[in-house]
Amino acid sequence: MTQPSFLELKNVFIVRGSKQVLSGINWCINPGEHWVLMGPNGCGKTTMLEIASGYLWPTDGEVYLLGGKLGEVYLPDLRREIGFVAPWVLGRIQENVPVEDVIASGLDASIGYVSSISSHFKSQIRHQLEFFEALELQGRHFGELSSGEKLKVVLSRSLISKPRLLILDEPFAHLDLTSRYHCYDFLGKLSREPKGPSIVLVTHYLEDICPFFTHALLLKEGHVQAQGSKKEVISSDLLSQTFHIPKKSFICRN
Ligand SMILES: Nc1ncnc2c1ncn2[C@@H]1O[C@H](COP(=O)(O)OP(=O)(O)O)[C@@H](O)[C@H]1O
Ligand SMILES: [Mg+2]
Repeated sequence: MTQPSFLELKNVFIVRGSKQVLSGINWCINPGEHWVLMGPNGCGKTTMLEIASGYLWPTDGEVYLLGGKLGEVYLPDLRREIGFVAPWVLGRIQENVPVEDVIASGLDASIGYVSSISSHFKSQIRHQLEFFEALELQGRHFGELSSGEKLKVVLSRSLISKPRLLILDEPFAHLDLTSRYHCYDFLGKLSREPKGPSIVLVTHYLEDICPFFTHALLLKEGHVQAQGSKKEVISSDLLSQTFHIPKKSFICRN
């Protein structure tokens, strides 16, 4: 039997304020696929991912998350299966929260608050930090950490509930080149885990498109400009049409 898709948006429209932000979006993520999402500022990428993770409801259209239809499934259970990392998540975590609590808060999709951590989850947290080669962050407070260290903690938080879908909305925005390259390695390692999640990355940088990404979607003014295999979509022609800049500006490494 074929596995259901992890995410399906069917003819999705959304109005925010007085603006039509997304129009007629069709998008499907199947198990084993890893997607890059690109498009100019304000074109609707974050809105699309907020719909995809069950935090926003479309004005029209249907959303299927991990086999369940939005509106017919119990969202808190589903949210545990979706890891979400965005710069605003980092901003919401108070400086004095211990690293272990930040990570544990991912178990109930809250941000930085936990009542108590069982010894079983303590060992899971250690394991998660080990994955990111960041065991030395145990016992530190979130506010003391560098941007790269904070991202490792927030990635650990998003993975602690073993999600099937990991959504990364411009996660590398404040990282230097070294930290970025380390993150590429960790995401590559995650993509090779037998039960690892499908990864969706929003980025403005072509160098962030690691070899493990299989598919890409280009969004422009709330419409899908192109989607499909990474090789076909991340091309100078389509990027030039999406971003309105000359083809020669893009050096694609596909
Ligand atoms: N809470 C909101 N209320 C009204 N409009 C919003 C809200 N959030 C985003 N928008 C508008 O929706 C459009 C798309 O925003 P967004 O999805 O954040 O774009 P992107 O992530 O591609 O930069 C923008 O015009 C933005 O101003
Ligand atoms: Mg955005």
